[in-house]
Amino acid sequence: MSQTHKRILLGISGGIAAYKCAELVRRLKDHHCDVKVVMTESAKQFITPLTMQAVSGEPVADSLLDPAAEAAMGHIELAKWADLVLVAPASSNIIAKMAAGIADDLLTTLLLATPTTVAIAPAMNQQMYAHLATQSNLSTLASRGVAVWGPGQGEQACGDVGKGRMLEPHELVSLTLDALTPEVPLLAGKTVTITAGPTREALDPVRYISNHSSGKMGYALAEAALALGAQVHLISGPVTLTPPQGCEVHAVSSALDMHQMAMKLAPDSDIFIGCAAVADYRAADIAEQKIKKQGDAMTLTLVKNPDIIADVAALKAHRPYTVGFAAETQDVAQYAQGKLKNKGLDMICANDVSQAGIGFNANDNALTLFWDNAQQSLPLASKSELALTVVKAIAGKLN
Ligand code: PMT
Repeated sequence: MSQTHKRILLGISGGIAAYKCAELVRRLKDHHCDVKVVMTESAKQFITPLTMQAVSGEPVADSLLDPAAEAAMGHIELAKWADLVLVAPASSNIIAKMAAGIADDLLTTLLLATPTTVAIAPAMNQQMYAHLATQSNLSTLASRGVAVWGPGQGEQACGDVGKGRMLEPHELVSLTLDALTPEVPLLAGKTVTITAGPTREALDPVRYISNHSSGKMGYALAEAALALGAQVHLISGPVTLTPPQGCEVHAVSSALDMHQMAMKLAPDSDIFIGCAAVADYRAADIAEQKIKKQGDAMTLTLVKNPDIIADVAALKAHRPYTVGFAAETQDVAQYAQGKLKNKGLDMICANDVSQAGIGFNANDNALTLFWDNAQQSLPLASKSELALTVVKAIAGKLN
């Protein structure tokens, strides 16, 4: 692949994996990338600026308040210079600062000032990685379009075993080159409608029935479809994510709202993807006033919601290529294939939501795609990576 003189700004934060950065820079340079290195104060405890200068062939920047460095290339200029900013290793500290928008040194300032793609390669102790604070910060960054590469699994420098190792330099190089290669616009001229997130079924003015869907998978699909050149309608249940730039968002709450919007948009769509976790039932009557406590038990009468994706798949005229998701906790393949057939879908993406760390509200997922009599397993990966693979697989079926 030709990667002539792509400009990579490598931000090194404090972590033992920083020692791998010399190798990372050498491999990037093998692929004709120009690399400039910015180091935090703690990064310098793990690898010297001199080493990084020697391998990159460029002076290392480490201070916001260095008149000589500012005279050579000001920090805003540096932020604009890069085609990609890669923070590797990305410690829990810098991830937290990025999520909070803190700019208290050169690297964090550049990260706020750069208009370009930012990727991070988390590296930390497995317990720190699993901590809710880190997970929530990573979700925030992912929802802002920051690419999160890794971490990998295995033995750690501290002796623990688990998820938290920085990806190896060759893996980071390959992800960098992929990120710098524009996607082939496989869906140029196509319209894709995607449902995402949960629905809320009101019981009274203050209560509702819902589920744990965060919208992450559906939003990642929208981002992937945009990257492949599609015009994207995102019908979103109530979530806290920032929608990808460039898609048209249709905010809905209940399954009935989602159904109405889907039936409006589907006939003008080439592809319809139902990723939303739609409530199968809603309250037969929504109380006008807050329901009062009465005795030790209460009975709710629920009625069936319309099956949105089945109605889209049943369209006689202007039927889009229709893809469902199946969230299963047992006999995943069997139930998913049943839904593929019973709902009249072209493809279904099954996820086993009983597994910890994937499915509802996680940043990662694992899917099996079923269509006709074929299937394809997509192993554990970030929802962004999986979404791109799914959308490419769908695009392949259209032509
Ligand atoms: O949002 P995240 O936190 O990222 O989590 C992602 C996810 C787990 C929600 C997603 O990957 C997923 O599996 N979505 C489908 C969840 C679901 O409701 O599955 P289901 O097996 O109940 O429904 C099967 C299909 O029918 C789905 O495409 C669903 O959108 C659709 N459906 C279901 C009921 C209904 N009344 N109308 C529908 O269109």
